[in-house]
Amino acid sequence: MEQPYLAVESVSKRFGSVQALDRVSLSCRRGELVAVLGPSGCGKTTLLRIVAGFEIPDLGSVRLGGIPATHLPPEKRGVGLVFQNYALFPHMTVGENIAYGLRFVKGLKRGDIAARVESLLELVDLPGYASRRPDQLSAGQQQRVAIARALAPEPRLLLLDEPLSALDVSLREQLRLHIRRIQRELNLTAVYVTHDQEEAMSVADRIAVMRDGRIEQFGTPEEVYEQPRTAFVASFFGRTALVPVRLAAPDTEFMTGRPGPDALAVLRAESVRPFGPGVPLRGRLEELEFLGHAVRLQLRGEFGTVWATAPRTEVDAWRRRRGEMVTVYFRPEETPTVPAGSHREE
Ligand SMILES: Nc1ncnc2c1ncn2[C@@H]1O[C@H](COP(=O)(O)OP(=O)(O)O)[C@@H](O)[C@H]1O
Ligand SMILES: [Mg+2]
Repeated sequence: MEQPYLAVESVSKRFGSVQALDRVSLSCRRGELVAVLGPSGCGKTTLLRIVAGFEIPDLGSVRLGGIPATHLPPEKRGVGLVFQNYALFPHMTVGENIAYGLRFVKGLKRGDIAARVESLLELVDLPGYASRRPDQLSAGQQQRVAIARALAPEPRLLLLDEPLSALDVSLREQLRLHIRRIQRELNLTAVYVTHDQEEAMSVADRIAVMRDGRIEQFGTPEEVYEQPRTAFVASFFGRTALVPVRLAAPDTEFMTGRPGPDALAVLRAESVRPFGPGVPLRGRLEELEFLGHAVRLQLRGEFGTVWATAPRTEVDAWRRRRGEMVTVYFRPEETPTVPAGSHREE
């Protein structure tokens, strides 16, 4: 198998009493986009700063293109950076901002720079914007300029730290597709930090799910969604209930309830339905939400809270049943489980 371009090996980093990273390993192949996903404070930025060379790990190593890079200064690493707050220089034009990204590239003539700036502006769909000032651009346009600036010196690795979190939802959804398109077009190797699970699934080839300075699972979006290995990873994606179950014959029969559950069934709202076949769960209909494409039901029973999905056409019928006892069903064959002990306590 091809050697990864980026290899982070068992990296730890402590700030005072905070163990920001605890033996984190991560790899990224050439042309691959890896998302680092986790809640605020879990160590994502610290990991990215170590890859960029702004922090030195206490333990562990970083390799770039097979070469030891743990102690290499940032400007020698060939990395491009995009942050949440685009941080363009306000007194410079768009073109000057992008050209600033070329300051370490030697031997470029004025004409080369102008041509390179214009081709980068085309890449980010802002042709002809070179003489504008940042304050004449929308937030989304400014972030596209920041991406062009990061790409200007042709980095071998692009690092993005929550690049879209300052933007509103519809812009975020457009821009993540745009970033993905550019990344594919240029065959860029990229690490993309986000706390948004949908964004991670949308853009990434593989996702590293982080919690409290550790990576709990590293796999394709389908793997982390369909085969979560821990309760934390399972509950990080979508509207999900974890219901204690006893597994009867190997993985074939689920028996809900006590005593002594040996697993937690991962029940995503979209795969629990108010009709059979499947394992029944009976509870009180506490809430319902009309989502446009469907109706989401929230039930409470002795198993805890579970969400189910009903057809959109049934919304009136379900509204009338609010507060009643209802039965919903899940199908064992489409229900992942995680070990009952995988709720890691701190
Ligand atoms: N320079 C620093 N000094 C002290 N604590 C820090 C420093 N950088 C990060 N931390 C702490 O390390 C933990 C991880 O932070 P960070 O990597 O920024 O997380 P994330 O980007 O996932 O929100 C947090 O508890 C944070 O407060
Ligand atoms: Mg951060």
